[in-house]
Amino acid sequence: MSYTIAMAGKGGTGKSTTATLIIRYITQELGKAVLAVDADPNSSLGISLGVDVKGTIADIREDVVEKRVEIPASMSKARYIEYCIEDCIVEESKFDLLTMGRPEGPKCYCYANNILRKYLDKAEQSYPFIVIDTEAGMEHLSRRTTNDVDLLIIAFEATIIGVHTAKRITELIVSLPIKIKEVIYVMCKVPKKGVNEKVEAEISKSGFEISAKLPFDDEIFEHITSGESLLEISKENAVYSEIRNLMDKFVLVSTDK
Ligand SMILES: Nc1ncnc2c1ncn2[C@@H]1O[C@H](COP(=O)(O)OP(=O)(O)OP(=O)(O)O)[C@@H](O)[C@H]1O
Ligand SMILES: [Mg+2]
Repeated sequence: MSYTIAMAGKGGTGKSTTATLIIRYITQELGKAVLAVDADPNSSLGISLGVDVKGTIADIREDVVEKRVEIPASMSKARYIEYCIEDCIVEESKFDLLTMGRPEGPKCYCYANNILRKYLDKAEQSYPFIVIDTEAGMEHLSRRTTNDVDLLIIAFEATIIGVHTAKRITELIVSLPIKIKEVIYVMCKVPKKGVNEKVEAEISKSGFEISAKLPFDDEIFEHITSGESLLEISKENAVYSEIRNLMDKFVLVSTDK
């Protein structure tokens, strides 16, 4: 069984950055394989991982359900969808990336979703770790087009809006049809001068216990600005060090991997 980590948070907070550094930790420090799932309609995990995305699950759904593409005579519809899923996975030496794409329209995509679900259930056998990058609405988690989650990381910025969004996500979790074993809060892009006292007060009021504070970091900013993979960031990088401590605490302890 895989250990599944999911990122959630408001747009632009630092979810993909955090997910990428977690993938770096698992692949480079633990030497384990990861299935990375980009379940954010904004699809940007591929960019921070430095890989080209060939296609998305949304494209497959559209082709099969809406455009009704011709399926080769030698294949069943289910096998064809599975083949398309395999084809849109980017395979790297230590991780694979599956990109979900845009949210669904009003049509019924249950058939394609069921196959995707079965595919992900099977992936549980092949990857020791699955890392899912999602968004504040957690569309894919709520449609159960992703697996159950061992560790949900709610990323938020040190602003009043950031804390409110984290609170809203916490409330939303209860209604999700998937199991979430543990929820933690990570503050992203923390300014050098520290957290504003009004924001601190809002955090205390909400009762969040912050598991990590990731500083605003110029090296990260430069890497993303120039489109370089965050997997290449230096080992001593301050944000990466925080992620390593966090993962040592939550992942090493709970997985024994
Ligand atoms: N610790 C950090 N220090 C400096 N810049 C950061 C840091 N974390 C993230 N950023 C910057 O913030 C922006 C958003 O980060 P990221 O893409 O990780 O967020 P996201 O939540 O995945 O956003 P989206 O919702 O758009 O996918 C990027 O330009 C990135 O360079
Ligand atoms: Mg992102």
